Amino acid sequence: MSSVQVIKSPAAMSAWSEAARARGERIAFVPTMGALHAGHLSLLAAARAHGERVALSIFVNPTQFGPNEDLARYPRDLAGDLAKAAAAGTDVAFVPAVPDMYPPGAQTVVEVREVSQGLCGDRRPGHFAGVATVVCKLFGIVRPHVALFGEKDFQQLAVVRRMVADLSLPVAVVGCPTLREPDGLAMSSRNVYLSPAERARAVAVFRGLSAARERFRAGERRAEILAEVALTDIAAAVDRVDYVEVRDADSLRPIAHLEQPAVILAAVFLGTTRLIDNMRLP
Ligand code: PAF
Repeated sequence: MSSVQVIKSPAAMSAWSEAARARGERIAFVPTMGALHAGHLSLLAAARAHGERVALSIFVNPTQFGPNEDLARYPRDLAGDLAKAAAAGTDVAFVPAVPDMYPPGAQTVVEVREVSQGLCGDRRPGHFAGVATVVCKLFGIVRPHVALFGEKDFQQLAVVRRMVADLSLPVAVVGCPTLREPDGLAMSSRNVYLSPAERARAVAVFRGLSAARERFRAGERRAEILAEVALTDIAAAVDRVDYVEVRDADSLRPIAHLEQPAVILAAVFLGTTRLIDNMRLP
């Protein structure tokens, strides 16, 4: 099995990219926080179609975690991640240390205003500023032509798209479908936190969103009703519902009646584990 070149310093990563660009190679980039699962591997596989070189980053970004969130216990498995990345045909893994990404004295934060509000933005203050800042920095260092993100983090994808447009960043952003376990649970690095009993209950999120989609297919267009349909399944199974909401799929603005592409999004807690998922309507 081929191995992945591991690069730790931002300067060396940029030099790698410069050399690839000088050879006329396109760089397709998958930013991650590690703990790679099949969803990440599908992004790496899709990346192959977008460039001759596939770059991955593994960086648990502290600025996107709130004070009471799971930064300290976030799953880390660099050796396992590199083996999976190699099997997925990744050329290079950028694995910076925190001081390399946030040197002392750093003052700049990228804030994407409206799209970051509501949903996870309200429940996790500062989260999307942390995401936008690190993704902007990663784009500056890795200099990809294309970057691939999973649609499971739907609001994150919308924030990144808005940032790229607003800052005229020369990167094409590609959203890829959510990968699911056989019972429908969306794949997530945080699923490893779930006890067997919580794991069994977690599938209710998929069931609830699917029920809303079925009701949509049957002709229901009132956002409130669709959210209620999803909530019926979800609230009965999880420990706490953070939100279940229907939004415009592009702007993520709230909508009352579905006349344009929409998405239903949910965030829940099972024990101390927070899971998110979404489904497009239609
Ligand atoms: O989705 C993630 O894993 C992270 O939010 C990202 C995009 C790598 C930024 O840290």
